[in-house]
Parts: sequence; C-alpha cells; structure tokens
Amino acid sequence: ELVFVGEGPGADEDAQGLAFVGRAGALLSRLITAMGLTREEVWIGNIVKCRPPENRKPLPDEMQACLPFLRSQLAVLKPRVIVALGATALTGLVDVSTGISRMRGTWLRFEDIDLMPTYHPSYLLRAGGESHDRYWEVWSDMEKVLTRLGRPIPTPKGRKREA
Ligand code: URA
Repeated sequence: ELVFVGEGPGADEDAQGLAFVGRAGALLSRLITAMGLTREEVWIGNIVKCRPPENRKPLPDEMQACLPFLRSQLAVLKPRVIVALGATALTGLVDVSTGISRMRGTWLRFEDIDLMPTYHPSYLLRAGGESHDRYWEVWSDMEKVLTRLGRPIPTPKGRKREA
C-alpha cells in the first residue's frame, strides 16, 4: 500500500540491482522503521532504471523512456500512497514547476493515487542526517502518509521538543 520512488540507481544500486541499498538507502530504511514499517512491507523503486553516466541527474527524455516501466510496476502494486523522494521523482510523476521545498508536505496525485512529495534521503544526508531540521520536515510528511493509511504514528526517537 506504500511505495517510495527515488531518482535512479547509484553505484551500490547498480552493483546489486536493487533500489536504495547504499547510504541514502540506509537512511530511508531507518525512516521506514521509525514509521513502524519494514522494508518488506513497502515497495521502493526509481524513476529511471539505469544509472546515468557520471551519476548525473537523469535527463527528461531518459525519465520519459523509463516511465512506462514504473507505470507498469505501479499498476501491479496498486499502492494507496506514493512518496516521491526529491525533485526528480516529483517532476517525473507530476507536472509541476514548483520546487520540492515548496511542494513537500502537500498532497498531489499520480493518476488516481495519492502522492506525497518530500526531500530525497541523499539531500538529508548532505544536510546532516537525522539531526537536521530537514529530517523533521520529512517526518511530518510521513506523519501525513501514516494518517492517510490509517496507521498509528509512532513517537520518533530523538525528536526535539517543540519550541
Ligand atoms: N538514490 C536514488 O534516487 N535511488 C536509489 O535507488 C539510490 C539512491
């Protein structure tokens, strides 16, 4: 019922043929655990299915070329909620021109599926990981996702007291 979509495979993902198995994947796993879920209970995929040369961002035509595969995957999975991780996932799935920092936390739709955009785990790592305010913005987006799924919202470890 819950799907996370990232940008595309990095070196670790390319080597293993799996999505989000490197450092960003470890952060994503911790987030999923904090949500009271396991990786086995969700599906994790990417907009593009091959690693772009030099790890550059996927080009629009590459995203378009891969979209039918993701569309087929989603048709099989029939998730209730898609979490779009970062700007590439957001613009790959929804026709928006507003940036991820403005759009995150706002419910959108991919076809008839609720879609929640949030920051990419690699961005969170660069920003300082779970100790950074950006992480709590992602957490508040995940609270909305859990509410939509009718799931309990666990109290996350290390949450700073509200000012
Ligand atoms: N970043 C992504 O966007 N996808 C992965 O699978 C790994 C890192």
